[in-house]
Amino acid sequence: MTRRSLAVVVLAAGEGTRMKSRILPKVLHGFAGRSLLAHVLAAVEPLGAEHTLVVVGAGRDQVIAALPATARAVVQDKQLGTGHAVAVALDALPSDAAGTVLVVPGDAPLLTTTTLRALVADAADVTMLTSELDDPTGYGRVLRHEDGSIRRIVEQKDASEHELRVREVGTSVYAFDATLLREAVQRLSTDNAQGEQYLTDVVGLAVADGRQVTAVRAPAAETAGVNDRVQLAAAARLYNDRLLHEHMRAGVTVLDPASTWVDAGVRLEPDVVLLPGTDLHGDTTVAAGAVVGPHTSLTDTTVGAGSRLQRVVAVQARIGADVTIGPFAYLRAGTVLADGVHVGTYVELKNADVGAATKIPHLSYVGDATIGEQTNIGAATVFVNYDGVAKHHTTIGSHARTGADNMFVAPVTVGDGAYTAAGAVITKDVPSGALARSSARQQNVPGWVAERRPGTAAAKAAEEAGADRQDEERPTP
Ligand code: UD1
Ligand code: CA
Repeated sequence: MTRRSLAVVVLAAGEGTRMKSRILPKVLHGFAGRSLLAHVLAAVEPLGAEHTLVVVGAGRDQVIAALPATARAVVQDKQLGTGHAVAVALDALPSDAAGTVLVVPGDAPLLTTTTLRALVADAADVTMLTSELDDPTGYGRVLRHEDGSIRRIVEQKDASEHELRVREVGTSVYAFDATLLREAVQRLSTDNAQGEQYLTDVVGLAVADGRQVTAVRAPAAETAGVNDRVQLAAAARLYNDRLLHEHMRAGVTVLDPASTWVDAGVRLEPDVVLLPGTDLHGDTTVAAGAVVGPHTSLTDTTVGAGSRLQRVVAVQARIGADVTIGPFAYLRAGTVLADGVHVGTYVELKNADVGAATKIPHLSYVGDATIGEQTNIGAATVFVNYDGVAKHHTTIGSHARTGADNMFVAPVTVGDGAYTAAGAVITKDVPSGALARSSARQQNVPGWVAERRPGTAAAKAAEEAGADRQDEERPTP
């Protein structure tokens, strides 16, 4: 069976004044890593339409710049109404284009492909998507005849008190017979409360012409439009719940869905555990058995099987299997951790390639580095990668043991199995198997406190401990 040809028209020319944004047109606000418009286009995409037109107007340059290659912009210069917007879009289609035109508003990010498919599959001349709302305020109301058949839609501002009591609303989503739509939008008047050409009036015109008009119902959780930032947050919450339910049904544990946020593209294998306060963004993948959280934020990051991350922020990092990170670690772009690595508390890594089972346990900055396998980096180490002008690389071999409080002044290389002493400032290469020391030898000045800080608590404590005075004679050791 060949499907009738399909064109999709996305209405996105409105300014969205209720968003009160100086930065973005409404349809470019978003959540879960996508704009409102991108959510709509993602729902439409699997339908495989021959044409996907996006009607743009307010903030058009920004909207056009954000469009995927599969969608084409059509400019509606003045926002004369939803009917006018559709007429402008139809003018951009081949004049003999027949088949179905699916109209969707750019501000309805919760629409699903399944529902849109049902709408397109319906054989009526006009099929509209409707919802039953507890509070239908602001929406167009669906008026039906005694026998339940559809009569027309009346907008909130044009409705009588009686009509306002109807709780079934139009959602601005319709599948139209293309020829009917093309002819009907030419007949729209502006004789209404807003002086606009209403797309909703096409429904009444089609009914009056004796055409077949039906409705498909969908829950409000799918059809809700976003007009202000309260509705944006509500839609984000609904969408997140939907995604998390899908992940949980596929075997992911999410202990606290209310504080766990995942973007649309995030991939989670079964037996991943997400602990409270965790947010996963962009192209992030977590493998089976990994435990992420609490309070961990990952962007474009890969986590291997069985790894454990607590209170970690990571951006563009690749984390192997059985890695332990945190609490309180920051992995920046280009961090690559092989299997079994341990990164501990207050450690920051950037552009760092760390070999299997190597440990960086405490208080360190590792920037622009390659570290081999099973090496231990001492506490409070800084990879001094920046000379004020350019960044340089440090290489440390396998099975090395570097002392606490080291500075590796790049470019510098430490060989396999080398040691460095505590407090070393490493400015020259360290050969394999060598110990590098750089700090001056310790010198004690006996009795200095009693002499220079007499009467202080320290001096008293020293005296009670039986400390020598500097001017007293001391036995040679
Ligand atoms: C519209 C419907 C209403 C429905 C509601 C569902 C009409 C007249 N009313 O009302 O019955 O219940 O959606 O959310 O259709 N747009 C353009 N060009 C224009 C005007 C609007 O592209 O000239 C776009 C807007 O950017 C938006 C969509 O069309 O994406 C709907 O417009 P909006 O002003 O939000 O309509 P509502 O008042 O919500
Ligand atoms: Ca709207």
